[in-house]
Amino acid sequence: MSERPDRFGVDEIAERAEKAFAEAADLEVLEEARVRFIGRKGEITTLLRSIGSLPDEERPAFGDLVNDLRERILGLYERRKGALSDGAAEEDYFSGDPTLPGRRALSGGRHVLHQVLRDIKRIFFGMGYSLAEGPDVELDYYNFEALNFPADHPSRDTQDTFYINRDILLRTQTSPVQVRYMEKHKPPLRIIVPGRVYRNEAPDPSHASEFLQMEGLYVDRNVSLADLRNDVTYFVRAFFGSDAKVRFRPHFFPFTEPSAEADMSCFACRGSGCPICGKTGWIEIMGAGMVHPHVFRNAGYDPDAYTGFAFGLGLDRIAMLKYGIDDIRRLLSNDLRFLRQFWAETAGEVFE
Ligand code: DAH
Repeated sequence: MSERPDRFGVDEIAERAEKAFAEAADLEVLEEARVRFIGRKGEITTLLRSIGSLPDEERPAFGDLVNDLRERILGLYERRKGALSDGAAEEDYFSGDPTLPGRRALSGGRHVLHQVLRDIKRIFFGMGYSLAEGPDVELDYYNFEALNFPADHPSRDTQDTFYINRDILLRTQTSPVQVRYMEKHKPPLRIIVPGRVYRNEAPDPSHASEFLQMEGLYVDRNVSLADLRNDVTYFVRAFFGSDAKVRFRPHFFPFTEPSAEADMSCFACRGSGCPICGKTGWIEIMGAGMVHPHVFRNAGYDPDAYTGFAFGLGLDRIAMLKYGIDDIRRLLSNDLRFLRQFWAETAGEVFE
């Protein structure tokens, strides 16, 4: 190609462009030079227009030539622009006002659910609980059978289960870890069990098909409902504020007897009734009860020697209540605009 005589002065134009770019001392002058060569009314466009005066057979080659030239000039321009911009930034830096605040590097933060879990763990560790965990992919036996949900019993329908096969499922609750833990440990024991659980729910602002629960279990001789009430109340006051009240309503769970749901007084209206608490003054926060003798037997404990209480709460729900989050799905959305709102609380924290 380079052997060919430069009939249209292409190389000459490129040389002039390179020179003009090199001489441009700032971005403004450079921009003027760019417009002169490759702008809409620049030299290259004018050159292309002259195609009409060429014989037909020369036109394609000419078009290619001019397009190559355009690319070349664009490349030269970009290179010069890069050099000038770097220089400009450097100049700004040295001539800048040193008293201006610096630019802060973007840093991440702890997810709001992890903040909530961390705070809850601290409260329960302070009461002598320790941490236990269990598998997300669980046996039907631990998720239902050992927890006194009989096979084909309607109580199973309350938890829309993702089955992997007849015996294996995604756990619908953290309660199976109660039995797994008791099988391996002798009483007395006090554990909390946070973990992800799964249910085949149609997603809406208060339902997601995966969410976090936390189980609590305390087993010893002579554990009573009064102990349950004490620990739950302590937790609620430590987490939501010392003026919170707690009440228990009778309920049914197959693995506890008696069973209850615990409510706390609405933190928004302090009990007088508002939209957050559905005008009742109370907000449901957990299920709880005294461990059912069948569950103790299934785990190899003697129900005549030991008693215990259990409770289970939804961590997403607790986070939503505490921070006024209106849709559970936001917690899994990874939307930085949402997540960032909670980072201030963990700024500078060292992550373990
Ligand atoms: N596992 C129950 C659920 O997912 C919650 C629950 C209720 C856990 C009562 C407990 C309990 O340990 O005692 O709905």
